[in-house]
Amino acid sequence: MYQDQNAPLDLRVADLLGKMTLEEKIQQLNQQAFGLNLNANNQGQTLHDVAPDIGSLIFLNDDPVERNSIQRRAMEESRLGIPILFGFDTIHGMRTVYPIPLAQACSWNPALVTQAAAMAARETKLTGIDWTFSPMIDVARDPRWGRIAESYGEDPYTVSVFGVATVQGYQGVELTESSGVAACLKHFAGYGASEGGRDYRATDISAQALWETYLPPFESGVKAGAATLMSGFNDISGVPASANRYLLTEVLKKCWAHAGFVVSDWNSIEQLVAQGVAKDRKEAGLKAFEAGVEMDMVDRIYADHLQELLDEGKLSMDSINDAVARVLRVKFRLGLFERPYTPIVPVSERYLRPDDRRIAAQLAEESMVLLKNDGGVLPISPAVKSLAVIGPMVKDQENLLGCWSGNAKAEDVETLFDGLTREFGGGADLIYARGCDFDGDDDSGFAEAVAAAAHADVVVLCLGEKKSWSGENASRSTIALPGIQEKLAGCLRQVGKPLVLVLSNGRPLELRRLAPLADAILEIWQPGIAGGTPMAGILSGRVNPSGRLAISFPVVTGQIPIYVGMRSSARPNDGNYQDIPGEPLYPFGHGLSYAFFHYGRAILSQDKVGMDEKVTVQVPVTNTGSVEGQETVFWYISDPVCSISRPMKELKYFEKKSIKPGETVVFTFEIAPLRDLSYCDSTGKRLLEAGDFHVRVKDQQVSFELSGC
Ligand code: BGC
Repeated sequence: MYQDQNAPLDLRVADLLGKMTLEEKIQQLNQQAFGLNLNANNQGQTLHDVAPDIGSLIFLNDDPVERNSIQRRAMEESRLGIPILFGFDTIHGMRTVYPIPLAQACSWNPALVTQAAAMAARETKLTGIDWTFSPMIDVARDPRWGRIAESYGEDPYTVSVFGVATVQGYQGVELTESSGVAACLKHFAGYGASEGGRDYRATDISAQALWETYLPPFESGVKAGAATLMSGFNDISGVPASANRYLLTEVLKKCWAHAGFVVSDWNSIEQLVAQGVAKDRKEAGLKAFEAGVEMDMVDRIYADHLQELLDEGKLSMDSINDAVARVLRVKFRLGLFERPYTPIVPVSERYLRPDDRRIAAQLAEESMVLLKNDGGVLPISPAVKSLAVIGPMVKDQENLLGCWSGNAKAEDVETLFDGLTREFGGGADLIYARGCDFDGDDDSGFAEAVAAAAHADVVVLCLGEKKSWSGENASRSTIALPGIQEKLAGCLRQVGKPLVLVLSNGRPLELRRLAPLADAILEIWQPGIAGGTPMAGILSGRVNPSGRLAISFPVVTGQIPIYVGMRSSARPNDGNYQDIPGEPLYPFGHGLSYAFFHYGRAILSQDKVGMDEKVTVQVPVTNTGSVEGQETVFWYISDPVCSISRPMKELKYFEKKSIKPGETVVFTFEIAPLRDLSYCDSTGKRLLEAGDFHVRVKDQQVSFELSGC
């Protein structure tokens, strides 16, 4: 019956499970890597000969024909013909790589992110992959942590919205119906709290912080139907995530009723030994399995020890059956039993299709953030006859891709220089000088750069980070750019020409010294293959920038942590560092436009509301400028008196809309008390407390009273 695609899913699972031997069951919980791993942190464990009854493979190879031949052995040579589940890290695109997740969030356009993820899913599927280890929905508040690039930033609500948008893109409305790939919410949970921003370190997370900051994106992702989760590397206040029964079983399986499975992170089961909670591999396996990790990523611990643990009575057959059923359910949901093979289409139809490039370019365009524009130096006037284009990023391809760039090829990347040439080439001369490298102390290129600047009307200086400076195991003790880049900017400033700074990086930067040197600053993040034209379009004014920061830019590294959802100081005007301002240099939500948006008076539908009623707040926004632009309105709630203190303000809703010059658009936030005014205590219980609430929008605040709870 398990082969009957019309039979109900649970019956198919039960039928198949009933036919499997213990050995076959254990193999379903085993995942190995196949092919060359480009992640330098995860080496040395690749398979050559794949057992046909293995549960899953990380397929580090871009040839679907090879994948199909492995799958054929599983279908034809394993006793029951159970398909292998092929996984891979498609994080921000497979070949048509688009902006890093941190940048995506700055677009405030979840629908576009869904489109991009659906495009990535198609390319992933046609490469032979059924399952991507994404989205990473770790709330990240320490920009020293390299993996901040992979997250949607510092705010739990924002991370939830973009996590769900991504899951929907990968899986479609319902995985069973779609031609998509299975999503994997990672890293469950709290990995973003790695101490001091160092990677793989312990996290000290209170139960309150867990429930109000780190778990909400996962709860939203589970509700959105995400098929799988990955357990984190981090030790959470003494209980590593990969041995954390509270999280993996009590919360995920019992409280949220997740019916899919959890895969460990790479080697995170064996690492329980280093983390000091297991004496050897076998005990590590027992702890992870008992906690609720169903699939062992590359450790072979389940394959080596589960049977023994069962024989010794340390594990029950029921728990093994439950784990295997979870894995099989995902395979059935994906339709793998019916469609085990990847359709082979020509490479030109598989990747980089024109429509897909357009999606990547639009997302790049909407994620770029204009941080500064003094004296309206941007857009660059058509009267400008020569541009000096300087810096190590100008002709770079590799680094614009960012970390985890799938199977992207650097040669597919449009450089910033190409984009500028297309945009300005007809009307202005472009004078290029590299100036310096990303780091080191070689300033021998400075003279050429200064000469270029002296000959030009405007200087466009393109600085930033190499892609290897963010991502896994790529933390940095300072988030400033290396001194050589700052020094180059200083020399160019002295030339006295208008200076436009274009930054490409995988984390917020410390811009304390750089910002005053530039008249304008455009943050382009790591835009992927299609960043040159969007960047140049913003510089020329063909495109009106609409990105807003989803992460704060601290004044200096020592100001970390500083983020939007902080709690109040006991002395609200005191307690900041003596030597810097109390606010970040560029706060969450910051971003300029070439349009001007005037906010009218915010109006509430009523000033008293019962717990089952809704209250609406509206604000009219008028474009008083001369060009059309997109404005994102951010709605925050503050709850000044509570049994458990709340952050000073919490983002509850946002909306991005286009407004024409002279036009007024009304933005509306409908507040549902249970959804928007309640909060979790340290056990995850939702509390809704009567009292006054403030709604904040831009620089206004309106208040109402909640009663009846
Ligand atoms: C990373 C995961 C990734 C896995 C497989 C690990 O090192 O932490 O995020 O999915 O490798 O590549």
